[in-house]
Amino acid sequence: MDMMRKLVAGNWKMNGTRADGVALARDLAGRYAGLTDPSFDMLICPPATLLAPVGEAIAKSGLALGGQDCHPEDSGAFTGDISATMLGDIGARFVIVGHSERRQNHGESDHEVAAKAGAAHRAGLTAIVCIGETLEQRDGGEALAVCSRQLAGSIPSTATAANTVIAYEPVWAIGTGRAATADDVSQVHDHLRADIASRIADASAVRLLYGGSVKAANAGELMQVANVDGALVGGASLKADEFWGIAKHCG
Ligand code: PGA
Repeated sequence: MDMMRKLVAGNWKMNGTRADGVALARDLAGRYAGLTDPSFDMLICPPATLLAPVGEAIAKSGLALGGQDCHPEDSGAFTGDISATMLGDIGARFVIVGHSERRQNHGESDHEVAAKAGAAHRAGLTAIVCIGETLEQRDGGEALAVCSRQLAGSIPSTATAANTVIAYEPVWAIGTGRAATADDVSQVHDHLRADIASRIADASAVRLLYGGSVKAANAGELMQVANVDGALVGGASLKADEFWGIAKHCG
């Protein structure tokens, strides 16, 4: 995987049975494997129940597999949780940590997110660390400060450009159909690029993804913004044509 190629990542969230998940994965794997010289990287993050069959469906296609969350510890008495080691064992190379739905629904703090990213690094996985402000925070003029604060608290000391991806996902844009404008994204991504320089040695090589209501129709504009190195896609990643339409803007 070429670090400076754009990354288009699909977060299936809590969607998909074995039949439709495998069919979608096979469809995408076929399309990706059919590219003679892919100019973007593609990642699928299915729910935990589908990691094994989706992993099989995309084997040798060049598509990467990722988890949606991991526990900060490597193993132990943590009923219902999954460790980064287990994700790696089943073939995942990435794991999303600190998604706003986890922060909101499970009360995850920046500190916990950093611990999860650290666990991902120990397991040899790339952590996709999610940050982003709420509408209230944006309206209060705090978007950049909130993102800086979350970034500072959520990135472990083990982070490098090779093992860490940052996803800017404004909470108000997730699943709402209201994507951030290219100007909003540009402002935040420029700010993040400067911000990570003090935390990650090879900051210019860290991939910064935008997420929140990305679809084929707006991906062209969003993916052209400077310092946007790909997309983290929720709803639109559940439809092969739509997801592929986004990916084509990442080439
Ligand atoms: P959405 O979700 O594309 O459905 O807005 C993005 C995400 O939560 O990663």
